[in-house]
Amino acid sequence: MRTPLLAGNWKMYKTPQETQAFFDAFLPLVAGAAGRDAAICPPYIDLAVALAAAAGSNVGIGAQNLAAGKEGAMTGEISGHMLKTIGCKYVLVGHSERRQFFGENEAGVLSKTQAALEYGLTPIVCVGELLAQRESGSTEAVLKQQFDGGMAPLSAEQFAKIVIAYEPVWAIGTGKVATPEQAAEAHAYIRGLVAEKFGNAQALAIRILYGGSVKPDNVAGLMSKGDIDGALVGGASLDPKSFAAIVNF
Ligand code: PGA
Repeated sequence: MRTPLLAGNWKMYKTPQETQAFFDAFLPLVAGAAGRDAAICPPYIDLAVALAAAAGSNVGIGAQNLAAGKEGAMTGEISGHMLKTIGCKYVLVGHSERRQFFGENEAGVLSKTQAALEYGLTPIVCVGELLAQRESGSTEAVLKQQFDGGMAPLSAEQFAKIVIAYEPVWAIGTGKVATPEQAAEAHAYIRGLVAEKFGNAQALAIRILYGGSVKPDNVAGLMSKGDIDGALVGGASLDPKSFAAIVNF
């Protein structure tokens, strides 16, 4: 069925030296992890060190963002083509921090997702509601809008290659994890949107990760839910022991 994916999002943390130290400690701890995929998405400047350290291991490397297009006059940007060329496998798209602090919207999420696919990367496309949206009962409407704008326009062939991450914004970095039931409910809703648009086979095949305060002590409860296919982990992915415990859940 669906292979779980445990992905770490380091955000703006760690130097290349710290990245090397992480992998030296982390790789032996997950060398025996079978039946699951593991990934780390470090800052751009750590990618070369991470790729070299993880070469030949069972850990894939990804970036946290990409620019649409192959190359061009785009000061400060990095393209999917560049990321693929150095050996990245994954790229995060539309993380809530990108939406909140860098003005990313559905149209941008769609074009970045398409660019990632064009260059052979697996986009991990993030969706999720704000606290006020959950409290006002509009979680499903928000998820539908994000799905309709950022993913539904993909072709069936493109959609088959993406991973979705459901990350309720109120649970990110706050220690307030969604209960397994709350997460599973949102995942089931998203899977229903996929079924409506792309059909049942696609809905059964798509991996939907949960993100938001995932820790070694809550990962098993989340993963016990049939609709939760993995985790996107921020804070707890920075420590090799803690992220290894999550990968080895
Ligand atoms: P967190 O972050 O695990 O620190 O809550 C999750 C994320 O932003 O992907």
